[in-house]
Order: sequence, then structure tokens, then C-alpha cells
Amino acid sequence: MNQATQAFHGGRLSEAAREFNLPRESFLDFSSNLNVFSPSIRAADWEQWRSAISRYPEADAAGIRDRLATVYRLPAHRILPTAGSIDALYLAARLFSKSKAAIIEPAFADYTRAFESAGCQPVRLALPRESWYAPASEWAPLLDPFDVVVLGNPNNPTGAFQPREQMAQLFNHSWARPKTWLVDEAFIEFVAAQEDETLLPVLQQYPSLIVFRSLTKSWCIPGLRLGFLATENSAWLGACRAMQPPWSVNALTEEWAATFLTPVRHNQLLSGLAELREIKKRFHRALAEIPGLCVHPSVANFLLVELINPSLDASQIYRELGLRGYLIRVCDSFHAMPKSRFIRLAVRTEDENTQLTNALSKLARRDSSIARIPSEIVPEAHAEIVPEAHPEIVPEGLPEISRGRKPPVPSKTGPSPGGAAEPTFRPISA
Ligand SMILES: Cc1ncc(COP(=O)(O)O)c(C=O)c1O
Repeated sequence: MNQATQAFHGGRLSEAAREFNLPRESFLDFSSNLNVFSPSIRAADWEQWRSAISRYPEADAAGIRDRLATVYRLPAHRILPTAGSIDALYLAARLFSKSKAAIIEPAFADYTRAFESAGCQPVRLALPRESWYAPASEWAPLLDPFDVVVLGNPNNPTGAFQPREQMAQLFNHSWARPKTWLVDEAFIEFVAAQEDETLLPVLQQYPSLIVFRSLTKSWCIPGLRLGFLATENSAWLGACRAMQPPWSVNALTEEWAATFLTPVRHNQLLSGLAELREIKKRFHRALAEIPGLCVHPSVANFLLVELINPSLDASQIYRELGLRGYLIRVCDSFHAMPKSRFIRLAVRTEDENTQLTNALSKLARRDSSIARIPSEIVPEAHAEIVPEAHPEIVPEGLPEISRGRKPPVPSKTGPSPGGAAEPTFRPISA
């Protein structure tokens, strides 16, 4: 790894402002997955918090830890507050620098970067695309040679999700080598019934499990930097705490937490996310109407969109939308994803989603020579989908798993391009 570079992320507003010669504030940012329905901060609150920048926060963030413990119903000794979940990830990676680590890909790029920065060379296990939305039990056989497994649940960028029951099966499997599990739940608050799915309440049963949580996405506070690491393993937690610099959680965040990090506010936030899920469904349907696009199912607040018409190109769409003030995430930087074929779109307000859908639709339809390819409507959540638009895409360097299974072709708009009969698919509620 080039130690000087950062992984590529969404939310590159300053870069976009330079690239498209538009003011930073003028963009509708669909490239970073923030909850646009999060509660706004009152002017009076800001006024009250002003003085926070001229004082030190608590060195060990003990006050925030206690608040997190109350809100997430965990004993405080299982929690380490961190500067975003990214801080938790980088601390935890340092515990396993000598281990054989596997990262389930495609995934958030910093899983790899964190391990590499800790001196570990993780193996990037590129799931074949027909396994992206499959239950973990299908790809579990790949994990046997490893000591540490890192995965995002929900996964970014696919939006796939492994229910707790699947995760339990994975943990309880009789592995030839015992495993440590690092599970990133940065997007779990967007999952319906997230309280039944998060691994936080079952930490005690799995002492070799570390969970990362982020407050960034659901509360829309990327600038504040707040997350936490949770584990039953006190030696790991203690080691992370010992490595963490003092004052990692800043004083403004302390002020924010005093107002917002309460069980009542948290429950209000979670209830508000039900509305977001409805908006996502409508956004999904509208996008799926656009010829040449296939919208994949997602439990998170973003949608992975595949450009199944070969005349559509992700970077070109990015540029054309950027010129019109819409910022989207091209997925070319994600490991194990075919280049120029995928974009990721955050779910924003109904009106903003419609604006983007219209702009995207115009682009997709502009060239009348573009053959109409039936767009696909796929069900919410981790259904057994995966359209066969690119049967030629070969999974990167992986043993043969799931290749025997032919994925169903979900379609509500008629026969598939190959003329296959109307398929069936199995939605799994999330
Ligand atoms: C999957 C995933 N995990 C973790 C993070 C980091 O979140 P935070 O802002 O809490 O550090 C991100 C940020 O984009 C992410 O996409």
C-alpha cells in the first residue's frame, strides 16, 4: 500500500466543486450515505456549544461511554468510544497484525487499509457476484484458512445483510482454526428490526467478536466523528484503549451527545428511519423503471445500481450528473466490482430522489440507439437475486463456490434479455 494515500470515499464535495466549477454547497450529495432526516441542531444549541472548542474534552471519553452504554443497553466496560467507527477499526486491526486476516469483498476499502497500516497483509476474499446477497453459510467454506475475518453487515456497497441468525451460524460453525470476527455495523440502524439483528446484545456469547458501530450515518454527523468499539473480550478492549490517543472524542461531540445521545432521542431517530425505508422503496422502483439500470436490494440507506446497458458508463454518468449538481458514487474503486458498471446512490428526500431519477433517466434515454433492456425490480433486502446481465464476469481468484447455482433473474417487466421465463425469487424480510 502507498502509505500516503487515503482510500477513495464518497462525499468528496471539495473535489467536486473544483472539478465541476460549482460551489460546494450547491451539490446534492448522493455519494455519501447520510440520513437526511436526522434531527436538525437548533441555533440555541450551537450557541451553547460554542465554548466547547476552547476546552479539552475528557481524555478517555468516559462520559460519552456511559451515555453510549445507556442508549445501546450495554455494560460500560464493553464499550470503547472512538472518533467515528473508523478509529475503532484502525485500533482493532493493530491487535491482529500478525494474524491471517480475511476481508469479505466487495467492501468498505478501509478494512484493508486498516490492516495494511497495522503491518498485516489481509487476504481480500472477493465473493463471486452471485454470492453477494447469499446467506453467509454459502461462502463460509472460504474462511477456513483464516484467523481473523472482517465483514460489513450491512455491507457497503452492496447493501446486503446477514441476519443475526446467519451470523450465529457462522460463529458456531466447527472451524478447523478458531476465528476472531470483526463486524462493522456502521449501517445497521437503517435495518428494520435492527434491535433484533445487531450483535451487540449477544456479545457475551461470542468473546472472539468485535463490533464496530458508527453514529455518523444515522445521525448525520460525519464532521463530529463518533463511533464505538464493543466486545466482551476485556483484554482486546483494554489493548485498544491503551493504544488510543487521549481526547480522541472531541468536546463539541460531548456537547452534542449531552443533547442527542439519550434513549428518547435515539428511539425517535429509529422511528424516523421507517419513513426513510418507504422512501427508499419508491426510489428503488423509480430507478428500476429506467432502461438499462438494475437496482440491487439494499437494507441500508443507499442503493447499488448496476448499469446493465453496455452503452452506459459509470464515470461518464458521474460527470454528466456532476455538471448538473448531483454527486454520485462510482464504484470502480471497490475491490471485486467490475469497472464502470456500478454506481451507489444514497437515499435522500423524496423530492431530491425524484430530481436525480429524472436526470438519470434523461441521460439513460438520451441516446435513442440504446437498446431497451428490461429494467429489473428486485425485492427489498437480501433476496436471492443477481441478474444475469453479465454472465461473463468471473469472480476474482476464488475457489468455486456457488457456481453450480444459477441465480434467478428477477424481473417484473417481462422476459429477461435471454428470453428466460419469469423467474421466482425469495424475499427475506429485513
Ligand atoms: C461501511 C463503513 N464503515 C465505517 C465507516 C466509517 O464511519 P465513521 O464516520 O463512523 O468513521 C464508513 C464510512 O463511510 C463505512 O461506509
